[in-house]
Amino acid sequence: MMNYQSSNALKGFILSLLFLPFLIISGCDQPEMDAGLTYTIPEQPELPTGFTPKPGWATSEFAVAAANPLATDAGYQIIRAGGSAIDAAIAVQLVLSLVEPQSSGIGGGAFILAWDGEEIHAYNGRETAPAAADENHFLDENADPLPFASAVRSGLSVGVPGTLALLKTVYENHGVLPWEDLFTPAILLAEDGFKISPRLHSLLDSDEALKNDPVAREYFYDEEGNALAPGTILKTPAYAEILRNVASRGISAFYEGSVAEDIVKRVTSHERPGVITEADIAAYPALDLRTEVMCNDWREYEICGFPPPSSGHIAIMQILGILDELDPVEEALVDSIPSAEWLHQFMEASKLAFADRNQYIGDPLFVEAPAGDWQSMLKNDYLSERASLVSDVSMGTAEPGNPRDFYSSFGVQIQQPESGTSHISIVDRDGNAVSMTTTIESGFGSRIMSDGGTGLPGGFLLNNELTDFSLAPYDDAGNPIANRVEPGKRPRSSMSPTLVFDRETGEFVASLGSPGGAAIIHYTAKALIGMLDWGLNAQEAIDLPNFANFNGPSVLEEGYFPDSIIEALEAMGHEVNVRALTSGLQAIKRTEDGFFGGADPRREGVVMGD
Ligand code: GLY
Repeated sequence: MMNYQSSNALKGFILSLLFLPFLIISGCDQPEMDAGLTYTIPEQPELPTGFTPKPGWATSEFAVAAANPLATDAGYQIIRAGGSAIDAAIAVQLVLSLVEPQSSGIGGGAFILAWDGEEIHAYNGRETAPAAADENHFLDENADPLPFASAVRSGLSVGVPGTLALLKTVYENHGVLPWEDLFTPAILLAEDGFKISPRLHSLLDSDEALKNDPVAREYFYDEEGNALAPGTILKTPAYAEILRNVASRGISAFYEGSVAEDIVKRVTSHERPGVITEADIAAYPALDLRTEVMCNDWREYEICGFPPPSSGHIAIMQILGILDELDPVEEALVDSIPSAEWLHQFMEASKLAFADRNQYIGDPLFVEAPAGDWQSMLKNDYLSERASLVSDVSMGTAEPGNPRDFYSSFGVQIQQPESGTSHISIVDRDGNAVSMTTTIESGFGSRIMSDGGTGLPGGFLLNNELTDFSLAPYDDAGNPIANRVEPGKRPRSSMSPTLVFDRETGEFVASLGSPGGAAIIHYTAKALIGMLDWGLNAQEAIDLPNFANFNGPSVLEEGYFPDSIIEALEAMGHEVNVRALTSGLQAIKRTEDGFFGGADPRREGVVMGD
């Protein structure tokens, strides 16, 4: 197993945050190992929460961006030890499951785009519905959909986890270091303990349901039921034990035996039980997780993203494409705030994109693309037709369109809450790039924690990904919803891992993505527009205020927009909501000298590299 010592890398990063606006991160002091990896547990100072200005990070050879400094540092150390971008992503994910357990982990699922210098590979580790789940899965005894929060906090919401099968698949195709070494950072952090971050503490503190789970209560809360304080050292022997087994015996140590048994026991013994079986779990590793990336031209770039079951790439490219069909506004950005005229166009384009997403997009193994091709939704003539619906005043709500004159028999799904998730962007020394978005769905997922049958403290949280399906299987007119529950199906996602290339040279330009439920689409679109159209660096683009429209009210991030903008939008007919829009963007953009990375000031993410 890889050694694990003490590093200056994180200290360097913290200093850079405090003192240096645009720092080139220097390497840490320890020697690189040629056999067995030296992993150094970083110092763990108190971490910031709320809005923390980030400097942006320039690096020359490689860069790792993730939502937590310990996770970023694990990826950094893996690359310094000779690992690939995928090796680093695996180590980052395993640490995130521990230190940012509210957002992603081995009890959830993820999408990965991997650029190997020649080709982009897409891997779908989305959770699946159990074989016994059917379209009535979330209906009560009166055939009405359960209240959303009740559906989330139940065994019903738990899909078969895909994360470890995904990590194994990408490792087989792109891994360099020994598999076991990639587990070392997470195992040692689980054994030695990590400091509870302020963000984790405040989410634990405000969650009403998590402490009802016996494993989570013992692990995250004191005897009085208070969330452990920020800075408390949290040890996780159950997670260390599970990872040791997966590192040495492979993913069957998760998908078969005591871990799978424990997942089934906890889900089926919940007061609102789910129907997952050991056979469902054992079947996941046999799935073919490879899928076709979707790439589309935009200006001088090729933008590549994830196909259905994600709605992310299609919606983002519809928004960008529709905006390009509209008359350019005179001033899009004034003092780093988008103007009301530009926001009006963005909100209208978003409404049109969300109308289409809510009718058409579901798991492609179950749902046929409009006119047989998801690209039909992104053709220039279709987007031009859609853009013609945008006028100087708000359209209110949009209706879905008819790509290539295709008329769908699907009903339109109503917008349900979506949240949670985490994003990882990495470029390694060979220029390989990864964009990975990973999730257990809402904060702390289903609020069911498994100790993997170890009987030890801690473990991993089980996802509530199945509430990304439409709870209602039919619309009011009796038409089936494309994204309804079916056995073995994957729920529709908004996750938008994105890689950008130069159309002329084919060179890598950027890797980015975000958490944030359905608003992932708007956050990622914002960062793309900021970097590629408005000439901002990755940090400046991420820092821009957030804005979103889910085919209804126009939502503006609280604390950024002056009354004059709100009033101007209202005068154009928009219903404006002002509220928190907590993106968690991570982005790495190529520069003349290497890379420039940014991490969202609204969360705890950082970028590291040499
Ligand atoms: N659960 C977040 C997403 O897949 O969009």
